[in-house]
Amino acid sequence: MSEFHNLAELALNRTDQSWGNLGYWKSATDYSDACRALALLLGEEAGLDPQSVVFDAGFGCGDQLPLWRDHFRVARVRGVNLSRSQTAHARAKLERAGHAAIAAAIVQGDINDPGIWRTALNREKPSHVIALDCAYHFPGRTEFSRLAHRHLARDGRLALTDFVLADQHDTASLRHQLLRWMLKCSRIAEDNIVRRDHYRLQLQEAGFDNIRMTDISPHVLPGLARFMQKLRQDKVSAGAGTYPGWLSLLKYRVTGRFLRWAYRRSILRYCVISATKTG
Ligand SMILES: C[S@@+](CC[C@H](N)C(=O)[O-])C[C@H]1O[C@@H](n2cnc3c(N)ncnc32)[C@H](O)[C@@H]1O
Repeated sequence: MSEFHNLAELALNRTDQSWGNLGYWKSATDYSDACRALALLLGEEAGLDPQSVVFDAGFGCGDQLPLWRDHFRVARVRGVNLSRSQTAHARAKLERAGHAAIAAAIVQGDINDPGIWRTALNREKPSHVIALDCAYHFPGRTEFSRLAHRHLARDGRLALTDFVLADQHDTASLRHQLLRWMLKCSRIAEDNIVRRDHYRLQLQEAGFDNIRMTDISPHVLPGLARFMQKLRQDKVSAGAGTYPGWLSLLKYRVTGRFLRWAYRRSILRYCVISATKTG
């Protein structure tokens, strides 16, 4: 059965890299580097350290899992991903790279299913729940936050990179209709995209405080379009203007252009967010 979240992003990566996020393009010019940079930014925002036990929600093809372990030296990593193909890819890659313990601690499932948390956590209380560029795809982000609060250890931290609606955006405008259509095509629940104040309130209602939200849009939203444009130019100069993979990359060209437009027109913003469990 074909999946919405599949292995298509492998085509954007360098050999042996399998990232699938929007990237942090402050100094990166290559897709894999930009994706890794976004993961590093999130790990730093989360405050990962050798005492951390990470529960990774939506780990994609898994490249971020050894990063938590090798770069931040965290104690343990567990995770859940909805995509079957990506979870299988991640498991095989982790095993090949000698990360058998992480490979054994990741499961396929829907993060909004309360049962999957129990299966994946195996009674452990993580110090950190991390969602790298994926919470907007979850069936309901507020339900996810409540589950994170329930399972986090005392004073645990939730850390995400996520979209918010720009404060200036007019929800009665034609642009908003276009945004709604694009969200539908991208399998993003409209309720997940709210203004910053509303997002903060939802986190507070789920039991979090010490909430930090930093707008990193200028280094995220125009970047994918720039990269796709360059990729195309490189292929054309190499005489591969109609190379067979081009059609499968169309989705990313469209996404890149849409995000650049939504950024320039002050419709969407992209933030790195962290919050501490209270109670
Ligand atoms: C844009 S990708 C980001 C992947 C990865 N974090 C990265 O940075 O490369 C979104 C990810 O969220 C996962 N996802 C979407 N809905 C999910 C759900 N309900 N439960 C768990 N994972 C989900 C997808 O399978 C996909 O791997």
